[in-house]
Amino acid sequence: YGTSSVNDKGHLTIGGVDTIELAKEFGTPLYVYDTQLIRERARGFKQTFDQLGVTSQVAYASKAFSSIAMIQLIDQEGLSLDVVSGGELYTALKAGFNPEKIHFHGNNKSAEEIAMALDADIGCFVVDNFHEINLLSGICKEKGKTASILLRVTPGIEAHTHDYILTGQEDSKFGFDLQNGQAEEALVKTLDLQQLHVLGLHCHIGSQIFETTGFIMAAEKMIEKMSVWKQKYNFSAEVLNLGGGFGIRYTKDDEPLAPGKYVEDIITRVKSLMDEYQLTMPEIWIEPGRSLTGDAGTTLYTVGSSKHVPEVRNYLAVDGGMSDNIRPALYNARYEAVIANRPEAKPESVVSIAGKCCESGDMLIWDLPITMHSSGDVLAVFCTGAYGYAMANNYNRIPRPAVVFVENGEAELVIERENYEDLIRHDLPLKVQHGGQK
Ligand code: LLP
Repeated sequence: YGTSSVNDKGHLTIGGVDTIELAKEFGTPLYVYDTQLIRERARGFKQTFDQLGVTSQVAYASKAFSSIAMIQLIDQEGLSLDVVSGGELYTALKAGFNPEKIHFHGNNKSAEEIAMALDADIGCFVVDNFHEINLLSGICKEKGKTASILLRVTPGIEAHTHDYILTGQEDSKFGFDLQNGQAEEALVKTLDLQQLHVLGLHCHIGSQIFETTGFIMAAEKMIEKMSVWKQKYNFSAEVLNLGGGFGIRYTKDDEPLAPGKYVEDIITRVKSLMDEYQLTMPEIWIEPGRSLTGDAGTTLYTVGSSKHVPEVRNYLAVDGGMSDNIRPALYNARYEAVIANRPEAKPESVVSIAGKCCESGDMLIWDLPITMHSSGDVLAVFCTGAYGYAMANNYNRIPRPAVVFVENGEAELVIERENYEDLIRHDLPLKVQHGGQK
């Protein structure tokens, strides 16, 4: 994976840094990001658009992993940013990210979040529903501001992925339905409102998608409508945003395309459709999350207890689990892992990696072929860079791990490990002393 390799001690290295040393210095569980790989992915997307001669914005979907340092890295690479909450917006602004390149998503933005985004002069709101049209235009009016918007539509595409991460089908909580006239109604309404400038359309059909068919079908449906709306309302979309969702390789069974290849296939088709319908080619925006950070992240754990269930299974427990990576429990997500002390040693047995939470479902990997190992070894789980730390939680009052960036042989701590004090920071003691039996 990425810049991972093995050094003369036989240890796994990432970005030229010995993972065993990282575990010693920063403790475990530890999220390690190979930032060179994130940069390569970012440049790959941008170069593909450049080669196709298409004006674009590649916006990192920061829900995949947001932190001040991460946003700064995205800024260094010249990408735009997709945020979905006041918290993600706050992080971006604190990181010094150019507000004009921030796109604000969400199916239930609050008045406070909208006001915060307007005050910051962000580049674009991705408007999801009629309630938001009214709310946003109302707040714009109060503030004497205008907002650029994209209308999020659901094109009626079912991407073949896990049910929970399907978003483009009709029966979805997101967006205006493209087929039943809702999207058109939203367009007519927003074109009429002085406070809103309609830049174009947005859709996101799902996540961890391996084929381009779904993206192309969605684009076809949107472009078809754009052609009708051009004639009916003289509306020319300046922007067509095709969302994110490009799949990555978690295990040997996954066969994604190279990130640039997704873009190449989709955009080539979009270009020819635009010609067919005699429409001016809009700017194409995309919003990759997982495909920018997913395989750049590795989690290091320390191996602890084990349990043998005769003729059934060997359990091997590590010092983290669903508190730092809920994906296996939530989506049956699969990962690969090695003993970082000797990643090249041949597997000799099969174990199932358990977390330390009080819940039977807290399993990280089922039936992992593994080499000789003992308590105290470091287990490296690959491809945890998207929706890992981002979905980490304090179940069982387990502090969230630390995050380090590694590049060119250097490691930099970018998120400190939580401590017990952090866990009780917002707890208040009981003030009222009645009702007890003691
Ligand atoms: N744009 C929109 C509007 C989205 O809803 C999403 C993801 C993305 C972009 C980025 O998608 P990506 O390129 O990362 O696939 N927690 C789940 C994934 C949920 C994705 C939600 N939306 C997981 O751990 O797999």
